Amino acid sequence: MKSKSILLILAYFLYFSNCAEILCIFVVPVHSHLSVYNAVTMELLSRGHKITLISVDPRENERNHVNVTLIELLSLKETYESQVQHFLLKPSRFFDHNPFLEILSSVFKNKHFLNLLKNDKKFDLLLMESFGFSPFNALAEYFNVPTVSITAGDALSTEHENRGNVINPVAHPDRLLEFPFAKTFSERLQSSIYWLTFKYVVMPLLIVKCDEITEKYFPNNKVKKYYDLTSNVDLLLINAHPVMGFIRPILPNTIPLGFLHIYPPQPLPGILQEILDKNTNGVIFVSFGTVYKPNYFPNVVQKLLTACENLPYLFLFKYDGVLDNVPKNMIIQKWFPQSDLLAHGNIKLFITQGGQQSMEESILRRVPMLIMLISSDQRANAIRVEDRQIAKVLDIHKNDKINSDDIKNSILDLVNNKRYKTNIENLTKLVEDVPMTSRDKAVWWIEYVIRNRGAKHFHYEQKNIPFYQYHYYDVIAFIGAVIVLIILIFMVILRLIGRFFEMLRNFKIKRD
Ligand SMILES: *[C@@H]1O[C@H](CO)[C@@H](O)[C@H](O)[C@H]1NC(C)=O
Ligand SMILES: *[C@@H]1O[C@H](CO)[C@@H](O)[C@H](O)[C@H]1NC(C)=O
Repeated sequence: MKSKSILLILAYFLYFSNCAEILCIFVVPVHSHLSVYNAVTMELLSRGHKITLISVDPRENERNHVNVTLIELLSLKETYESQVQHFLLKPSRFFDHNPFLEILSSVFKNKHFLNLLKNDKKFDLLLMESFGFSPFNALAEYFNVPTVSITAGDALSTEHENRGNVINPVAHPDRLLEFPFAKTFSERLQSSIYWLTFKYVVMPLLIVKCDEITEKYFPNNKVKKYYDLTSNVDLLLINAHPVMGFIRPILPNTIPLGFLHIYPPQPLPGILQEILDKNTNGVIFVSFGTVYKPNYFPNVVQKLLTACENLPYLFLFKYDGVLDNVPKNMIIQKWFPQSDLLAHGNIKLFITQGGQQSMEESILRRVPMLIMLISSDQRANAIRVEDRQIAKVLDIHKNDKINSDDIKNSILDLVNNKRYKTNIENLTKLVEDVPMTSRDKAVWWIEYVIRNRGAKHFHYEQKNIPFYQYHYYDVIAFIGAVIVLIILIFMVILRLIGRFFEMLRNFKIKRD
């Protein structure tokens, strides 16, 4: 009897874990973000799920998988990349060069995507990248499935708000701001104005576009308004780990992950392995990621080259282009297997622009970092990591006074001061001391939503309480008013009593 029920339970789980059809949408072509989503899709595929993948830049392992039906958004990538460069270099041009609006209009013109809407394929789940606003949430009702949203880093404040998580511009400035929390008055002012403007000016403008698309492509849906659509998300997976300083109050409908995209290190290609083995004095890896091309900041690169020149280490610099004045102790290459490279014992330091995925790799491989900020949107994350004393931040983006000597001294300190290495080893222990890996956790929760046909039972009803009621300002006002009233009545009574005695005295005087 017992073994029979175990078999039944097993069959139940096998049934669900083998048969799910998952619709995945990943449309923002940022390499490091896609590597996070790829880790999740590959984990799902390895458990026998089938995936229909709408992707702007599918990886080889997704492209070649028998259980992946691919809808590739080919034309999108280049237009998007140029838009992103505009956007990142000049965030003020949010509306005329908004890469996300560009994406939305391109996806809804894609023939294969429109065909998907026409055929009546059955799905069990919508798994979508969440980037603050998108009409893709409407696909959940269209295909009658629950939704899991996922982000490559911390979620935007609007997404936290949609789930009901605490959003407070002082304690938790939006992730696009430059500080992890607003310490000074000017930061509090900046963060509050940013949030209020974003919430009450920017979002409504963007939402108009979303609602237009939903109206047009999902005319039979019951829910078409953006805010109602996003309220229907069952679970939000955020790839932000508490040990990196992402600590904030979140509800059970938000699952923190982190380090999703990192696998055990693979052997290095022959020649690279040789080079690293040989340089026992120390190798330093330099990469500014894939979004920013180093030819956008030639001055920084020249300062760095000068700093490296006389140091007794070998530098490996990921640089896509031609460079003058390359010092003898530097090897330049278009691409390096970063995550595997960082695992080599002779790597002493990682010089990075501070992208979250890069910093995660550095932490898991126990390599201290020199973070050279070349854009303001990495600053908050960099400060969080610096606070853990595993890295130094040079804000070369803001401060042109930083010279090659500053860079050189920072490198020497980070390599020679054992404190950084000890701290990072301690931090890595904390990352690894968990009941299951982030990939297992992500997949467990995704399968949970599939098994239970949603996770609406986690919905936080109280998030719809009006602001003044939630903070019980009405109650405070009422109690205040009652107290004032009592004081007033008391004063009136005192005055009346005073008058009464005065009258009594006057009366006595008259009688006498
Ligand atoms: C594809 O899916 C089927 C059915 O779920 C499964 O049996 C098979 O192992 C999967 N193939 C691969 C390569 O994962
Ligand atoms: C880090 O770990 C070392 C060795 O286990 C220990 O001596 C040290 O106190 C730890 N440092 C901190 C800050 O926890």
